[in-house]
Amino acid sequence: MRRIGILTSGGDAPGMNACIRAAVRTALAHDLAIVGIRRGYTGLIGADTIPLDRAAIRNTIHLGGTILETSRNPDFYTRDGRLRAAAAIERMGLDGLVLIGGEGTFHGASLLAADADTAALVGVPGSIDNDVYGTDYCIGFDTAANCAVEAIDRIRDTARSHERLFFIEVMGRTTGFLALESGIAGGAEELAIPEEQVSVARMSERIREGFSIGKKSAIVVVAEGKTPGISFHLAREVKKHLDFDSRVVVLGHLQRGGPPTLRDRVLGSLLGVAAVEALLEGRSGCMVGEVGGELAYTPLEETWQKKKPLNEDLRRIFTILSD
Ligand code: F6P
Repeated sequence: MRRIGILTSGGDAPGMNACIRAAVRTALAHDLAIVGIRRGYTGLIGADTIPLDRAAIRNTIHLGGTILETSRNPDFYTRDGRLRAAAAIERMGLDGLVLIGGEGTFHGASLLAADADTAALVGVPGSIDNDVYGTDYCIGFDTAANCAVEAIDRIRDTARSHERLFFIEVMGRTTGFLALESGIAGGAEELAIPEEQVSVARMSERIREGFSIGKKSAIVVVAEGKTPGISFHLAREVKKHLDFDSRVVVLGHLQRGGPPTLRDRVLGSLLGVAAVEALLEGRSGCMVGEVGGELAYTPLEETWQKKKPLNEDLRRIFTILSD
């Protein structure tokens, strides 16, 4: 192993820069040359690189987004696109590649490995959705969840002052990880997540009961699911059962930006070092994550083929605490 590349792909996530920085420092400490590939799989297909040395990653640990930029490239889902990427990897003279991203990134990487005998591939989970199998937490989740909690706290002030019901929609794609943890931390009254059937009648009844025993506000945290903006629909449905003054707030991309939290900087650093060390140990076709406080190596196919379950204890306590 003499020369490696690193890229970020899919949605950016705070802490990706901490991971890039850690990978670069680890590579340099082992006399490995490292290049950055710009704009995810788009840059990989085009062999679009930037040199990465100590100066390039200086003062980046606190920055959100990704200094390498990112993309979601549909060409990578075609065999032709992947063969062009494999040829570019060869032209760039890479022996190994670190891929920071989520399910879609690892799906693409597995297909690439099946299509071509290419450089060793090691993934690092970076996604605010936290939906990647093989790691307890993905880089970026903690920052996004903290952003959502801050939003809930702020909305609670105004909700309480007007005795209102708020629907706060968070990201998370088809999973409820962000909604569940931010809902617990924000003391939300109700949760609507894609993993569960929502009963509008039961939700409305619980909200009514809450106000009847003296609550001055109610917050429903809604996971966007497959249909961003779904909270407007839910609010309309609840209104049919409950004629309360209500408002909808969709947090959207606010949750993806901003400086990474301590946890995301530490997780990004840990996994950035581990990814380069994994390449040096001769690993390939796997993602390095953290499970139960230990590093865990999961085959790339499993990271997107297996469904990561919600933490059942957290789901259970939400119901107890939201009463
Ligand atoms: O996967 C990260 C994520 O932020 C999801 O939570 C969200 O559904 C999606 O990306 C939004 O994608 P885009 O930035 O392309 O609008």
